[in-house]
Amino acid sequence: MRKFILAANWKMNLTAAEAQDWLTQFNDLVTENSTHEFRLYAPSLFSAELAKSNTIHIGAQNAFPSDFGAFTGEVSIPQLISVGVKSLLIGHSERRSYFHESTEFIKEKVDACCQHAFPFILCCGEDFETREKDEYLSFIRNQLSTAIEQVEKEQLALMVIAYEPIWAIGTGQTATIDQILEVHGYIRSVLIDFFGELGVAVPILYGGSVNSSNAKSIFACPEVNGGLIGGASLNASVFLELASSL
Ligand code: 13P
Repeated sequence: MRKFILAANWKMNLTAAEAQDWLTQFNDLVTENSTHEFRLYAPSLFSAELAKSNTIHIGAQNAFPSDFGAFTGEVSIPQLISVGVKSLLIGHSERRSYFHESTEFIKEKVDACCQHAFPFILCCGEDFETREKDEYLSFIRNQLSTAIEQVEKEQLALMVIAYEPIWAIGTGQTATIDQILEVHGYIRSVLIDFFGELGVAVPILYGGSVNSSNAKSIFACPEVNGGLIGGASLNASVFLELASSL
């Protein structure tokens, strides 16, 4: 049976009380012996509390690639580890566009995760103009190859890739199955170029308007190893409903 990763990215949503309610509902509904891995990328503010329950992998949506220092407002990887956070989301398009994170800065985060043996999901994906110009494959290759340049084969088990076409995020306009097949197959070939046969084992998630009506056909694609879910993850039962498509 294929093993999937289903990751909830709450983005900047929910209050502390709502976060606890979500977790209670998740714990009530989740099938204990599920073969799949569930992850929750919550706002860092709630991480320590959520991690106490130990029932779902808690990840962070952001971290600064230095261990400590004068970086007001930022959080470091050792700080996240110290409260039980288990992984980091890197290179989300919202961080790239609203917070001007360059691919070089994203590489620094990847390297910091590797240095701490801290698992991470590296996001990539093109905007609408890049797709229209038919330059999306080289765009994605550039995003990935810069970021993973220094990842060693021994560190590969830390890495998950997420393909999130920007035009599909929060728009209700999911990529078509053909588009997903093409890009996921291409990402797999990039990983094999870099890491040889070991690249076959790196999970590749799809993200962008995944919901209960389209999840089944998306998760059936051969190179889709799970999903990174925004809007449909804000309600625990809707999120878990997606798992029934796996
Ligand atoms: P939506 O599922 O809301 O489109 O968000 C996808 C996403 O950005 C997850 O990281």
